[in-house]
Amino acid sequence: MKLFIPDYILSIKPYVPGKPIEELEREYGIGHSIKLASNENPLGPSPKALKAIEGALKRLNRYPDGGGYDLVRKISEKLNLSPENVVLGNGSDDIIGMLARAILTPGVEAVLPRSSFLMYEIVVRTAGAKPVFVPLQSLAIDLDGILGAVTPLTRMVFINNPNNPTGTVVARSDFKRFLENLAPGIVVVLDEAYIEFVRDEDCAAGLEFFSEQTPLVVLRTFSKAYGLAGLRIGYGVMPAKISRILNRIRQPFNTSLAAQAGALAALDDDEFLVKTIRLIHDGLDYLYDRLEKINVKYFPTQANYLLIDVERDADDVFEKMLRQGVIVRSMAAYGFPEYIRVNVGLPEENERFIQALDNVMGSRSPGV
Ligand SMILES: Cc1ncc(COP(=O)(O)O)c(C=O)c1O
Repeated sequence: MKLFIPDYILSIKPYVPGKPIEELEREYGIGHSIKLASNENPLGPSPKALKAIEGALKRLNRYPDGGGYDLVRKISEKLNLSPENVVLGNGSDDIIGMLARAILTPGVEAVLPRSSFLMYEIVVRTAGAKPVFVPLQSLAIDLDGILGAVTPLTRMVFINNPNNPTGTVVARSDFKRFLENLAPGIVVVLDEAYIEFVRDEDCAAGLEFFSEQTPLVVLRTFSKAYGLAGLRIGYGVMPAKISRILNRIRQPFNTSLAAQAGALAALDDDEFLVKTIRLIHDGLDYLYDRLEKINVKYFPTQANYLLIDVERDADDVFEKMLRQGVIVRSMAAYGFPEYIRVNVGLPEENERFIQALDNVMGSRSPGV
């Protein structure tokens, strides 16, 4: 069969998601496995969201309100902005894709940190634009390096705060200086998928920098802290000049009726949010302590996951963990062939992870 596929599409390596539990159990015949590979919320979905979704099911014969009137109003009121500043997406992935389709063309450039969330590269290449990579500095996003990589062809810059997979954050004062020094007209995509988990008070919060005159888009998601990854809903906060462009190319019903209802209720579920954040912080403190005890090197994080240096082939460690029913993520595809990434789970899951890792590392510890 003859096909006319552009070379820039053929250059894309498909995104490989965390291995689903069902797939592991099917392939390895293991029961009771646990997944700590996709930075999901271990507590399940927000209970208030679940109840609202049940209520929405009776209306599934109808198309959703494409613009998500109620949810957009609620988000904008919460943020003290205009509804025109909020665009909903089928996950924040959808907004990342819309931005690339709206702004990038073959021949222009987008600057991305390496390593960071792998979807940025995919959307840039899909638009035919050139990804320009800026290496991390001590695992953190190098804002000066990004400024240095900007050329007259640059149209977009991606910053992930906290950064996936390293868990580092950019400081408020550094981000301020960065925005002041960036050439006009370049859209800054500040992806805050994990911002709810940050403990560092110096961390930049994108909304503090919002203005109708600044081409800054702040991305937020309901997938992590609100436990709604399977529902697919997130949003972008941006100047009206940019939201009007995205609304031209947005799929008319890009967020489902159930997703809008669930997200609307989740925003009122403060109890769940507080419980989630506490669980993550306690879980991280536990993991730090146990990793030290089993003598394994890790990198402190501001997110709900952390990088671990296994000092051997990460794909092999991933495979050996799988055989013990524990799904983590090898960081080989992110350019860290000896690191794994694990997200915080329930206390019993964290314990099981440490035990499995200690087994794989050959029990180098005096005992957990
Ligand atoms: C940094 C980052 N941004 C965006 C996403 C996508 O989130 P969503 O589920 O809202 O599409 C993820 C998901 O893992 C992520 O890690």
